[in-house]
Amino acid sequence: MCGIIGYVGRDSATSILISGLRRLEYRGYDSAGIAIQHNGSFDIRRSVGKLNNLEANLQNGSIEGTTGIGHTRWATHGRPSEQNAHPHRSGDVVLVHNGIIENFLTLRHRLESEGFRFESETDTEVIAHLLSSAIKRGRTLDVAVRQVAHDLQGSYAIAVMSLAEPGRIVVSRSGCPLVIGLNGTGAFLASDVTPLLSHTREVVFLEDGEVGILQESEIQVFDPEGRPKSFQPETIHWDAEAAEKGGYSDFMMKEIHEQPQVIMDTLRGRFDYETGEADLPDLAMTKEELLNAKRFWIVACGTSWHAGLVGKYLFEEMVRRPIQVDIGSEFRYREPMIQQGDVFIAISQSGETADTLAAAREAKRRGARVLAIVNAVGSTLSREADGIIYTRCGPEISVASTKAFTGQVIALYLLALHVGRVHEVLTPEEGRWWLDRFLTLPGHVEHILKQEKSIELIAHQYAQKRNFLYLGRGINYPIALEGALKLKEISYIHAEGYPAGEMKHGPIALIDSEMPVVVLSPKDRLYEKSVSNLMEVRARSAPVIAFVSEGDHALDKVADHVFHIPDVHPLLTPILFTVGLQLLAYHIANSRGLDVDRPRNLAKSVTVE
Ligand code: F6R
Repeated sequence: MCGIIGYVGRDSATSILISGLRRLEYRGYDSAGIAIQHNGSFDIRRSVGKLNNLEANLQNGSIEGTTGIGHTRWATHGRPSEQNAHPHRSGDVVLVHNGIIENFLTLRHRLESEGFRFESETDTEVIAHLLSSAIKRGRTLDVAVRQVAHDLQGSYAIAVMSLAEPGRIVVSRSGCPLVIGLNGTGAFLASDVTPLLSHTREVVFLEDGEVGILQESEIQVFDPEGRPKSFQPETIHWDAEAAEKGGYSDFMMKEIHEQPQVIMDTLRGRFDYETGEADLPDLAMTKEELLNAKRFWIVACGTSWHAGLVGKYLFEEMVRRPIQVDIGSEFRYREPMIQQGDVFIAISQSGETADTLAAAREAKRRGARVLAIVNAVGSTLSREADGIIYTRCGPEISVASTKAFTGQVIALYLLALHVGRVHEVLTPEEGRWWLDRFLTLPGHVEHILKQEKSIELIAHQYAQKRNFLYLGRGINYPIALEGALKLKEISYIHAEGYPAGEMKHGPIALIDSEMPVVVLSPKDRLYEKSVSNLMEVRARSAPVIAFVSEGDHALDKVADHVFHIPDVHPLLTPILFTVGLQLLAYHIANSRGLDVDRPRNLAKSVTVE
């Protein structure tokens, strides 16, 4: 996720910006840049890769000035490159931006027809041109920012400078955080408090639609209608390490809590409500190609494979086409019956997993069309695939995957909707119905996160057990696998995920009072069957932790603990159960005093076979 920094004051801006960008490195980035305003001009420096490259670039001629903005970019629109790195300039305006402008293509076409030339592939450059055009029409920078905001759909935090207004930085936000602060030497802005803490602990978090003007000894804030707003700075007590984690004790917890935003970001701008269709231009596949595909394949590893298994159920219900899901390390050594024109979907957070890459290359060699669902822009998988859906999760730092899984499942919902509409399995009304349901998910996840305390209490009771069994059926069988994987990775407790109906064929022999069993039992067509499985467990004295739909109290007296998830369509339950199981695994590992972010023996990206 990109980082923003800015300073206007008495001191040299460059060193403040660079040290601020260093503090933002933890957010992940692929390029960086700064712009300094000095003597009626901008000095803009941008470099691909690490900040050292930017610092080397700064050695080429001195860069003076006490007003500047800086940015670390995590690519979303356009590959990592110097042209795509921020700041972006148009005329007398230069800006940095976090977020996603959904309607950037429409705006870009409009601006191109008005004669604006684009130098980057980014969505950000449209904002620069819109602001420059407003300023040419005589607007002050703050008024221009407020007016341009009306044209923008999506999310943004921006910091802007204009040559016409030296010694000033204007900021605004909608849906992305932006924080500002003042000390005796100047005013500061950033995308989170981390880089501000060495300068001031008194900060103001801008609200959506507000505009701030920063000058050396003054900060002004205006409401969305342009009226001056009085504000009371907040005092931040976190140290820098806690600030990187947004105040959470570790990245895993922060990333679990980012999931409502991940869902929204991954859906953002990717559907047409009128037609009930998903809009996925980067798939680069025509309707005919999708219609002619005989078979769909999904290949991935670990947690991404579990997302792929969820995808199988989605495709079977929403697309009604044959689909096969494989583990990367198995697929590459089989003789898969893949045919010319088949669609091969590779899922990967990192885009660098050796087994997934090898499988995708093999599929391509056999004539399949390779689509990637991937988080890391510019990764090997994203470069080698024929088409892409980026999950917009931002960098996932904790080794155990949480938000990336959620982003992947959301991308699969969109893909299933897209292909289902192309195949006319879904009508426009049904497409709209699904879109409405997808958009409720962030709220439902928030609801689960608010009940974290009750999961924590359950976790404390079972943290010293040596084995766990997770049972699920249908689309929640992969979630049983994912819940068990999360637990074993970070708590080192042996855990198995099993299809509940398969229990009687073996694992039931393991069940006794020392084996907690987590049962996923939503109100779906398999509900009665799941309850029977639960009874079999209960009869063998195992402690039962049941995850059920809201309003279902039938299991209250049967299970030892019942956790309710919102009552949603069965195909949407996987995300909600997963969040609950992530919290359970997290709190069990935490009570065992383990480092959840860096579990032993595991690497974030498995680039070897
Ligand atoms: C589990 C986990 C791993 C990854 C797997 C694939 O929490 O993180 O199982 O899911 O190594 O990685 P990607 O998605 O990067 O291909």
